[in-house]
Amino acid sequence: WVLMKTAQTPTNIAVIKYWGKRDETLILPVNDSISVTLDPAHLCTTTTVAVSPAFQQDRMWLNGKEISLSGGRYQNCLREIRKRAREVEDKEKGIKIEKEDWEKLHLHIASYNNFPTAAGLASSAAGFACLVFALAKLMNVEEDESQLSAIARQGSGSACRSLFGGFVKWIMGKEEDGSDSLAVQLVDEKHWDDLFIIIAVVSSRQKETSSTSGMRESVETSLLLQHRAKEVVPKRTLQMEEAIKNRDFASFAKLTCADSNQFHAVCLDTSPPIFYMNDTSHRIISHVEKWNRSEGSPQVAYTFDAGPNAVLIARDRKAAAQLLKRLLFSFPPNSDADLDSYIIGDKTI
Ligand code: DP6
Repeated sequence: WVLMKTAQTPTNIAVIKYWGKRDETLILPVNDSISVTLDPAHLCTTTTVAVSPAFQQDRMWLNGKEISLSGGRYQNCLREIRKRAREVEDKEKGIKIEKEDWEKLHLHIASYNNFPTAAGLASSAAGFACLVFALAKLMNVEEDESQLSAIARQGSGSACRSLFGGFVKWIMGKEEDGSDSLAVQLVDEKHWDDLFIIIAVVSSRQKETSSTSGMRESVETSLLLQHRAKEVVPKRTLQMEEAIKNRDFASFAKLTCADSNQFHAVCLDTSPPIFYMNDTSHRIISHVEKWNRSEGSPQVAYTFDAGPNAVLIARDRKAAAQLLKRLLFSFPPNSDADLDSYIIGDKTI
């Protein structure tokens, strides 16, 4: 027999960035972060997990290609979920798995991203969140989403924020064992559904410095990171929560852009410096800043992760349509500074 479960998890985009760990193994951050989870129809991972007495070892396939599960991050997630596994019974199929059987049974895992992995867009966030959620369903785990987020966190920090929709806060926590470093939902996806997200894919090449090693180097060498974590983010997080609660787009945009810019300033303050944005990214920032100023109030917020692609959050559908027109005009196809593609909702242009 084979027992299976499938789950789907969207990726999330941080508006207050996580950058820097205080514990590398448990993946504990140096500051709180806040993100918005994308619509499940867009940029998401679908994962099917299966268990059978016929399976000889744990195995995993990512986009159809087998990958190794030997890395610490996968092992940590599998171990933590197995610890919480409970009895499962499928009367129709005549299957009964006792709690202690889970230690001996092996898993097969197949995961797909509905967006090109090569596009340099965060896939680990959706990937680990989906893996943990699917396994929790298969093994009848009782823990709620926040508790599961603390397990997904051990796969990839940003993954803990993908267990919820809407706006989500990853509370850094104080405990050494990481038990209080978990995600909570600030507001659900219906709270602020005017927002419209467009991702301008500046380059679909894989990034040169991974987030994991980049943030390690920043923790070791950047003084600005220490100032950011201690002085800036605690206040900014409170202001961001307020802006989200009140659907105050002007404050939201100001805080989002400032936080992205400070994160990239920390990267420049790292030795040797890390350059995630390129000339086209900088031109997009100038363009949005100029447009927002000319309108008198912000229409669009920008934020960049560990790569050159711009995540643009428009205040509503009308602003998003105008933005797209402006981008197509300023970055015409086949010019020196053309963009590789746009991802709007589920459409790639
Ligand atoms: C810039 O979650 O990919 O996207 O915990 O080492 O797996 P690890 O790092 P990861 O870092 C994400 C960094 C970021 C900001 C963010 O998502 O908050």
